Formats: sequence, structure tokens, C-alpha cells
Amino acid sequence: MGLGTIIATEGSPSTSEFSFVLHSDVKKGQYVQAEHRQGMLFGYVSEICKSNRYFERAESVAEFEKNSGMKNFPSDSWEYVVGLVKILGVYNSGRFERAFSPPSPGLKVANADSEILRTFLGFTDDGLDIGTIEHHDVPAKISMTRLLQKHFAILAMSGAGKSHLSGVILEELLDRKKEDGRVAVVVIDIHGEYSGFAHDPKYGPLTKVIAGKEICIPLKKISPELFCEWIPNLSVPQRDVLRHAVSALRKDNFNFHQLLAAIDEAGVSSDSVTRALKRSLMELRRYRFLSKTRENPRLLSDVKPGNLLVLDFSEIDSLRKKQILVSLVARRLFRLRKQSKIPPFLLLIEEAHNFAREKAEEREAVSRSIIETIAREGRKFGASICLVSQRPVNLSTTALSQCNSHVILRVTNPNDLDHIQMSSEGIDSRVVKSITGLKVGEAIFVGEAVNYPVFISVRDRKSEKREKGAPLHRQAIDFEQAKEKKEKGAEAFL
Ligand SMILES: Nc1ncnc2c1ncn2[C@@H]1O[C@H](COP(=O)(O)OP(=O)(O)OP(=O)(O)O)[C@@H](O)[C@H]1O
Ligand SMILES: [Mg+2]
Repeated sequence: MGLGTIIATEGSPSTSEFSFVLHSDVKKGQYVQAEHRQGMLFGYVSEICKSNRYFERAESVAEFEKNSGMKNFPSDSWEYVVGLVKILGVYNSGRFERAFSPPSPGLKVANADSEILRTFLGFTDDGLDIGTIEHHDVPAKISMTRLLQKHFAILAMSGAGKSHLSGVILEELLDRKKEDGRVAVVVIDIHGEYSGFAHDPKYGPLTKVIAGKEICIPLKKISPELFCEWIPNLSVPQRDVLRHAVSALRKDNFNFHQLLAAIDEAGVSSDSVTRALKRSLMELRRYRFLSKTRENPRLLSDVKPGNLLVLDFSEIDSLRKKQILVSLVARRLFRLRKQSKIPPFLLLIEEAHNFAREKAEEREAVSRSIIETIAREGRKFGASICLVSQRPVNLSTTALSQCNSHVILRVTNPNDLDHIQMSSEGIDSRVVKSITGLKVGEAIFVGEAVNYPVFISVRDRKSEKREKGAPLHRQAIDFEQAKEKKEKGAEAFL
């Protein structure tokens, strides 16, 4: 369908841009094409301006005002709309090249062909169906390998649709066929938003939800190094004592008392060394995830291709406990993957700024080092990470810079915007300007996953959403109603 006609203006058409008079509705950001000697010229509408020669001259405006209401004044017919197009390339038999000559004025401009769009952006038929390309009815099917292999981050302010988009990506991963390659997915679910998958008729059988309080691990499976990571400020003698005690016990299952006894035995050198060490271990014990034999989740059997494992942390209050559990799970996942004992996986971490914090004291940084390690080395082993965060400023720059694709939804905080611009390669000023204007559910994909930054309207969820946090007035009404009901019940009883 024709959208307009290329016009000659000062300096355009050139090999990088052209203007066209619009015959029909065109949106800023829409992709367009025009015939060209080399093939099909392809670009996007970077701006739309209105012009009316009649109102350019002071005397004609004054005349118009004087005779306001003049019925036969033809000012309307002088108004026209001009679209400015940035040329992105020329498409010729499946390939893109640079335009070596400008298009001719007078040529017709049309809406971009969906095949050209897909090739240009790098979408694949077996890709993840995230939604549609903004202003086009073309599915945005992002290659799974390109998105996951070099990790990705979903960044946006609160309420912009990060968890919704994560849910959409999970659905797509669970929907994949065996022959297309399926990964296992593990989600660190901070607000209990992903348990809906377990109640869904389609995804339920593929989903296992484990409450954070149920997570436990036999002491035998914890290496002395991991203990040292959890208790970072141990002195060299304390580390020695701990290593000695744990190594001696690890041949068999052992419980906490046996660990303390072994430390007493190993730590003859000085009383204060062992006492402080035991105190730190007691703190770990209070988090109630260390056991003699119980193990949950059993990663070897719970991490399966095309399946989802949700670790629901919504009932854990202590941030430190959450960090310790993330470090435990991430470390074990990565080790098992390196040994090829579990399939390639995606580990999606909500509120990632709490687990890979840029400026953290050592004690607060327990989970950061393993997240950074997977971000750096995971690619070779099929271990992918997705960091979801509303505070990108607080996210480890090492981890964030290893996320080769960034998905950005609405952000308005200037600090966050600056940080995103600095850490996302391929974001130009056009994209940055658009971020604050995004609506809920609109996302920009940049980086490895796509050939060119693209605006995507994220599709609806197929599975049931479990949202936490009803509107405030609803919560207030519910509270009072529940209270009244209780009081009435008590009166009736009396
Ligand atoms: N593409 C979309 N289509 C329809 N509704 C959406 C879409 N994206 C988000 N929403 C709705 O917007 C609301 C906020 O979305 P969501 O919970 O995903 O935000 P969030 O960025 O994860 O917020 P928070 O930082 O608080 O976790 C939800 O009610 C969600 O259902
Ligand atoms: Mg969320």
C-alpha cells in the first residue's frame, strides 16, 4: 500500500535520508521501503512534520486573521504532512547493503514488507514469539540462541512490565519442541509471581514450585570454599580449621553437631579462633537450610529440558538468606552443567540488583561472584542468565556488561537512563529519548539478540498471571470487611 511520495528538499534525498509527502497515516518509528536501482530501499520514519506554506509568511497570516472565518480561504488545502526517513540499507535477494545512490524524488513509499523486516531485524521462524514489531503486524520472533547464549537483562522501572515479559519468555521456552532445542528454566521468584505456571493446565505438568523455606541441602554437599564464601571475613587459621573439619567429615553424611565437634577437634590451636568460627556457622544454621540428608530441590532430577523450576522466595524475609540460597543454587547449577549432568539452562533472577550488587560489602556480596562467573563463562557451557532489575544503577557492571542483550521497558529516572545508555552497546540517542515515552508492555530489544534496536509490543500472557498487590483501596476494603465479619461471628457466638 502506498504511503506517500518522495520529495526533493534541501539536501535530500541523499544516501542516508529522504523526505516524503504522506498520503495516509504513518507513525514515527514505522519502517518503510521504496524501489531503488540496487534493490528495495529500506528505512524508518525518524520524524513527521506538518507544513503549511500559507502560514510561513507574516502578511498572509495577518490577512487570514483579519478575515477570520473567511469561508473560501484555501488555507487548509495548503497543509501537508512530511515524513523524514533514515535509510538503513538496500535489500537485495535476502541481503542488505549500503545505499550507494539516493532514491529519486517522485518515487512511491510503501510500508515495509514483513519478509524484509524479519531479515533486517534478524528474527527466525523458530524464534521466541515475544509480541509484534511496533506499528507493524509482524510477529517479533527472537532467536532463542541469540537471546540466551550470551545472557540478557530486562531493565525497567517498577510496574513497566518486566515480570510480564519474563513470563512471556518462559511460556515460549516451555512451548518449544524437542527438535528445536529446549533448555531448562530456573526462576528465582522474589514475589511469588511465577507460581501461576503450576496451576496452568498446559504448563502445570512442566512446572515445579518450591517454597524458599523448603530449600535444603545436605551439609556433605557444601564445599569448604562455599562455606568460606558465605562467611567472608574468616581469618586464615579459621579457614584452615573449617577446611580440615569439613574435609574429614565429607566422606559420610553428617549433621550440624558433628560439624561443631569436628571444629573443636581441629581447632586445638586457639580457643578464640574456633569460638568465632562456630558463631558464624550458627548464624548459617539459623537460616534452616542445612540438613543431614534432605535435599530440595534435587537439581539432577528437577532441572529438565523444557521444564520450569520456580524457587519461590516470597516468604523469606532475610535478604542474606536469599543471597545465600541464590549462591547455593547458582553454584550447583553451573557445576552440574559443566559436568553435563543437567541440560543447558536459563537462570532468571528477579530483583537481580539484590543478588549482584555493584557496591556491596563483602558480607552482602555472597551471590555476586557466582552470578558474575556464569555471566563471564556460562556461554561456553550452555549456562545462561537473565537479570531482571528495576535498579540497574545498583547492578554489578561486570554482570551487566556480560549481558549481551538488553531488553528495556519504560524508565524515567535520569540516573537509571544514563546508566542504561552507558552499559548498553547499540543504544543511540534516538532510542534513549524513546525510553521515557514507552508505555507499559512496550519494550526495546538491543544487542546480540537482534540486528538492530527494535521496539516490540509485548504480547498478552497465555498462562495465568499471579499478581501480588491488589490496588490499595481494594486491600483497605478487604481488611475492614474481614474484620467486620470476624466481629459479627464473635457476636453471634455470644
Ligand atoms: N504487555 C503487557 N500486556 C498487558 N499487560 C501488561 C503487559 N506488561 C505489563 N502488564 C501489566 O502491567 C502490570 C505491571 O507489570 P509487571 O508486574 O510485569 O511489572 P514489573 O516491571 O515486573 O514491576 P515490579 O518492578 O514492581 O516487579 C501488571 O498488571 C501486568 O499485568
Ligand atoms: Mg516484577
